[in-house]
Amino acid sequence: MSLRPVPLLASEWEAALPLYEVLLGRALTHGDLQQRAGRWPDLTRVVTHSGEQIAALIEWRPDPFSPPGYLRLDLAVLPEFRGRGHGAELLGTVPKLDAAGLSAHIHDSDLASLAWAQRRGFTVHAQRFESVLNPQEFRPEQHIQPLPDGVSLSDMTNASEADWHELVRLYVDALAETPDFRSLPKWNEEKTRREMQENPQTRLSWIIAARSGGSLLGFTAALTGRSAYNQMTAVAPQARGLGLAYALKVELLRRLKADGIQEARTHNHAKNLPMIRVNEKLGYLRQRGTWEVRRPS
Ligand SMILES: CC(C)(COP(=O)(O)OP(=O)(O)OC[C@H]1O[C@@H](n2cnc3c(N)ncnc32)[C@H](O)[C@@H]1OP(=O)(O)O)[C@@H](O)C(=O)NCCC(=O)NCCS
Repeated sequence: MSLRPVPLLASEWEAALPLYEVLLGRALTHGDLQQRAGRWPDLTRVVTHSGEQIAALIEWRPDPFSPPGYLRLDLAVLPEFRGRGHGAELLGTVPKLDAAGLSAHIHDSDLASLAWAQRRGFTVHAQRFESVLNPQEFRPEQHIQPLPDGVSLSDMTNASEADWHELVRLYVDALAETPDFRSLPKWNEEKTRREMQENPQTRLSWIIAARSGGSLLGFTAALTGRSAYNQMTAVAPQARGLGLAYALKVELLRRLKADGIQEARTHNHAKNLPMIRVNEKLGYLRQRGTWEVRRPS
């Protein structure tokens, strides 16, 4: 049998749904696929077939969360076609690309896939996990504590350009401190604005800022989508350990609850202990996790 990697045709897009379910580890609708396609317009997709059926899929895209020049890839083989060379054949299409390296995410329950990737030169770079909480079950009154003297919370609905500039600066600096980014070049303001201020999933009333005497001390931000996604929380170094991250996230959850949101999600790097602690206190429940594996070219 010859396994010939070919681009996924637009007409096959829906037939690939079971592979996306394997990739994402959950049941999907066609709407979810459309949303994914819109979110990653620069995605390349290559598949192998077994008879008429799409047996395996690999897709790749530039990734702002990986080292410069790296491609983020996702590879899935339907369980019934595993062990027949589909994965290796598809992975083999990637060295032809001019990438500095590859990164991929593997569910932390999938030891067989991790071992497969390690046999092909990938090493574990990080372990992360998702946490979820239903804002409708969140009781703000059990969490609200007095803010430190002079500190107030507000959202970005009427933010000025100066407010945005300050927020983006804090984002850039705090992101560089996260365990994920310590070994990566700092983002610039333009890239950060794209991810936040200009992101179509941004909702200004879900970016909560803590200020004192006009200066920004911290913020937390959530994006809209399948559920609310608490994308980033940052507190300026001089204001840490005062309970601000906790207070910001309590206010965010209070708003999500008032907005009728049924699910809030967030991700944590397994080494970010302060953030994990805050999320646990809020009642976030830890879900399955992923290993990020990388292989330089
Ligand atoms: C993570 C971050 C937002 C926390 O902000 P903060 O305002 O200092 O957090 P809080 O004061 O509300 O709470 C921190 C909690 O973590 C605990 N903590 C701090 N260091 C810890 C450690 N090494 N191990 C375990 N718990 C720790 C604190 O004791 C506190 O818990 P407590 O109130 O029960 O005592 C801040 O450190 C930061 O901006 N880091 C850089 C950016 C980042 O990593 N953001 C998260 C990625 S989304």
